[in-house]
Amino acid sequence: MSTLSTSLPGGTWTLGDLTVTRFGYGAMQLAGPGVMGPPADHDGALAVLRGAAGLGVTHIDTSDAYGPRVTNELIREALRPYPDSLFIATKVGANRDAQGGWPTARRPEDLRNQVHENLQSLGVEVLDLVNMRMGDAEGPRAGSLAEAFETLAGLQQEGLIRHLGVSNATADQVAEAQGIAPIVCVQNMYNLAHRHDDDLIDRLAADGIAYVPFFPLGGFTPLQSEALSGVAARLGAVPMSVALAWLLQRSPNILLIPGTSSTAHLRENVAGAGLALSDEDVAELDRVGR
Ligand SMILES: NC(=O)c1ccc[n+]([C@@H]2O[C@H](COP(=O)([O-])OP(=O)(O)OC[C@H]3O[C@@H](n4cnc5c(N)ncnc54)[C@H](OP(=O)(O)O)[C@@H]3O)[C@@H](O)[C@H]2O)c1
Repeated sequence: MSTLSTSLPGGTWTLGDLTVTRFGYGAMQLAGPGVMGPPADHDGALAVLRGAAGLGVTHIDTSDAYGPRVTNELIREALRPYPDSLFIATKVGANRDAQGGWPTARRPEDLRNQVHENLQSLGVEVLDLVNMRMGDAEGPRAGSLAEAFETLAGLQQEGLIRHLGVSNATADQVAEAQGIAPIVCVQNMYNLAHRHDDDLIDRLAADGIAYVPFFPLGGFTPLQSEALSGVAARLGAVPMSVALAWLLQRSPNILLIPGTSSTAHLRENVAGAGLALSDEDVAELDRVGR
């Protein structure tokens, strides 16, 4: 198992056999509008990725569906040769159509193709982590993930994947996956206004499994609430910093992957996530999502 010391807020967490910074980076915002096509500013996108690595971030979240291929290829261009400490998480389970939709693609042959496409576009021989993405754009959907997850477990046994996780999944699907193969993380939508997974987070923490919230800042609809703005104003901080600090304080198994296409926002988020929230601040913020 590797060790890692960091000055990034939140310290570190061990994902499988690799210790990562709890402050990570989500690459989705680097693709073009609607997560389709290349970014308007190619060099700017490379600068954000190199900036994240330069700040010491060792956990990057991506998917071959972003662009498609665009964010993976940017990561490859910006960061290869990859340092040993870097952990790249990707996900499978959807393709893109010409309209920018995200049609599900979870048959065994779809998943095998997506794993090979991720290997190629990232330029690696083994993927650090593959999340099996379930549900749809509206959120998790009930139903078995067994066939899909068994396919990924098979690809893991073939040596193409180091670690497995699930994404956009119900608590039942998380438990079903754990019955098939060990998982190191769950990546679901969660932030201070969307707290459906509170119980799941606590159960995963007890099991030593990471919870990686997507849309930590509200995603395409940035978080807005009077309480959030009020706490931020009291602390002399911006609301995004408070939202990230709240997540880090919510549970030690929460890993951040905020997305941004801006180096200035990246720096602001790193600096702000270390904000210390008092019990009073947390109580006020807790009321937003309850
Ligand atoms: N598993 C899944 O199904 C799934 C779904 C969605 C996303 N994800 C992953 O989760 C990651 C995070 O989600 P996300 O990027 O969609 O949403 P997010 O992190 O909640 O928010 C990103 C948005 O916040 C803005 N932002 C970031 N920092 C800011 C700041 N300091 N001040 C003002 N605005 C700021 C960004 O705009 P700027 O670019 O202007 O900074 C962007 O519009 C993605 O990158 C992706 O890797 C996974």
